[in-house]
Amino acid sequence: MSIIEFNKVTKSFNHHKVLNEASFTVPQGSVFGFLGNNGEGKSTTVRLMLGLLKPSGGEIRLFNRSASTVLPRCLNNIGCIVDAPALYQHLTASEYLSLSQRIKNIPKNDIDRVLNIVEMLPSKNGVIAQFSLGMKQRLAIANALLGAPDLLVLDEPTNGLDPQGMLDIRELLRRLPEKTGCTVFVSSHLLNEVERMVSHVAIINRGEIVLQDTLRNLVKAEGKLTVSCLETSNALALLSAANFQCSSNVSGELIVSDITQTQCTQVHHILSKHHIDFWQSNFDQLSLEETFMKICSKQENVSSLIKKRVA
Ligand SMILES: Nc1ncnc2c1ncn2[C@@H]1O[C@H](COP(=O)(O)OP(=O)(O)O)[C@@H](O)[C@H]1O
Ligand SMILES: [Mg+2]
Repeated sequence: MSIIEFNKVTKSFNHHKVLNEASFTVPQGSVFGFLGNNGEGKSTTVRLMLGLLKPSGGEIRLFNRSASTVLPRCLNNIGCIVDAPALYQHLTASEYLSLSQRIKNIPKNDIDRVLNIVEMLPSKNGVIAQFSLGMKQRLAIANALLGAPDLLVLDEPTNGLDPQGMLDIRELLRRLPEKTGCTVFVSSHLLNEVERMVSHVAIINRGEIVLQDTLRNLVKAEGKLTVSCLETSNALALLSAANFQCSSNVSGELIVSDITQTQCTQVHHILSKHHIDFWQSNFDQLSLEETFMKICSKQENVSSLIKKRVA
């Protein structure tokens, strides 16, 4: 089942199209990373799914029903952090959650459960003003989890955190679906951050979803082969002739880029056939960041090509 679905959603502000027929699907139980540079429309997308903005076109579905019919009712079932959380500094964690529980009209006492999920039960009676930024963010997540929502929406939750704070949030979100059954939608411009916590990824670039896939599919496909060999220049010539994209690095190693793991054996075969000895060969998958840069640069090429043709 899909928890969030955007079908060709367009959003314009004063004729400026921020989203252009954006489509993506967030499956139940996923940690869905919504990635893009600053100003690409991540927060706009979050506001649209929470009903804080209306789309200019297309359809948004939440929990398999049209958002226009289930919002705002279904907000009870969505926990969210869309901005730096406004916490009451003079309260303890427990007092803050208890207040929030009353405001949200949650009948059963849920405080210990949510504090346990974010591993803050020992700080239950600590005063918020004395918490680190990371603890405050975890408390905000605990607050969003009050009442056991089926969906948690977070807009750039690791912004401004120190490395330890980031690590804690990342571990927390990564394990949330298995711990609580909650689906997580998290936006970020920090690709290497997200890579270690998400199961699914969509990338937004210039208002369009340029890619959507499971993380596993995305990073496994292509990579780079580094070969330590004698006669690097001969090897370069041979492999270029066989249409491999290759170069050498400062250490004189041979680098073959845009290559799949199965193609590596072809490279080894060509080198052996021409009696070029090599003593080491390493295949590295592209990181999410490298995949993203590649996609964006391809897009750039396409759009500058189009511009050139028009000119
Ligand atoms: N309420 C608004 N009115 C006009 N322009 C807006 C509004 N909200 C966002 N924008 C514009 O939409 C674009 C995307 O913004 P945003 O969704 O905040 O991006 P991100 O969260 O990815 O940094 C930006 O160019 C921003 O200036
Ligand atoms: Mg934003």
